[in-house]
Amino acid sequence: HDLLVIAIDGPAAAGKGTLARRLANELGLAYLDTGSIYRAVGVSVLKAGQDPADPAAAAAAAQALTPDSLSVLQQDPLLRSEDGGKAASLVAAQPAVRQALLDFQRAFASTPPGDARGAVLDGRDIGTVVCPDARVKLFVTASVEERARRRVKELRERGETVIESVVLQDMKDRDERDQARAVAPLRPADDALVLDTSALDADAAFAAVLAHIGERG
Ligand code: C5P
Repeated sequence: HDLLVIAIDGPAAAGKGTLARRLANELGLAYLDTGSIYRAVGVSVLKAGQDPADPAAAAAAAQALTPDSLSVLQQDPLLRSEDGGKAASLVAAQPAVRQALLDFQRAFASTPPGDARGAVLDGRDIGTVVCPDARVKLFVTASVEERARRRVKELRERGETVIESVVLQDMKDRDERDQARAVAPLRPADDALVLDTSALDADAAFAAVLAHIGERG
C-alpha cells in the first residue's frame, strides 16, 4: 500500500508540532506527537513519587502504559510543564522505555486511525529508528536562543511564571541529553531535509516543506 508517512524530528521548540499539525490537516494524515508519550511516562513516574532518572521506575511506567492511562496522563497539567519535559527526557534515555513505546508508534504509522491516507509523526528518532522507511523526512531545528524565546512565550501565554535564563539552561540540558544518549540519539537521518526555522515563520516553513514533498511525489 502507498501510505504517506512523514517523519519530523528535531530539538524542543523548533516548530515541529505546528508544522506536523498543519501537514496532517492539509494532507488528510493522522498525527502522532510522540514527545507527549514520553512526557506521559515521565509524569507517571513523578506522580508515583519516583525518580525519572531511576531506570527501573522509568521502565515499569512505560511497560504499564495503556491507551486509557495514556489519555488520562495526556490531560495532566504537568505534561506540558518544564518539569514534565525534563522528566520525559530522563525516562527517554532508558532503552527499556524506548523499546516499550516502539510498537505503538510503528503501529500508528503503518495503520493510521480512521481513513487517513498516511501519518505524520514528530519526535527525536522518527526518521532514524521508528520509521526509517518514511517517504518524507524532515529535521526541523533553530538556534537554542530562539527556541528558548519561543518556549518562554508559550509558557507565559499559559500563565506560568518563568525566568528566561532558566528556560534557556533547561533547553541546553535537554538538547545535550537527547543528543548524547546511547540509544536513538537526536540526529538528522541521512536522507532528511534539514529546515532551520530560526528566521522562518510558520507559513514560510510550511511552504518550504510542501515544495519538498511535491518534489518527492
Ligand atoms: O517533543 P517534546 O519536547 O514533547 O519531547 C519531550 C522529550 O521526550 C524530549 O526531550 C526527548 O527526550 C523525548 N523524546 C524522545 N523521542 C521521541 C520524542 C520525544 O526521546 N521520539
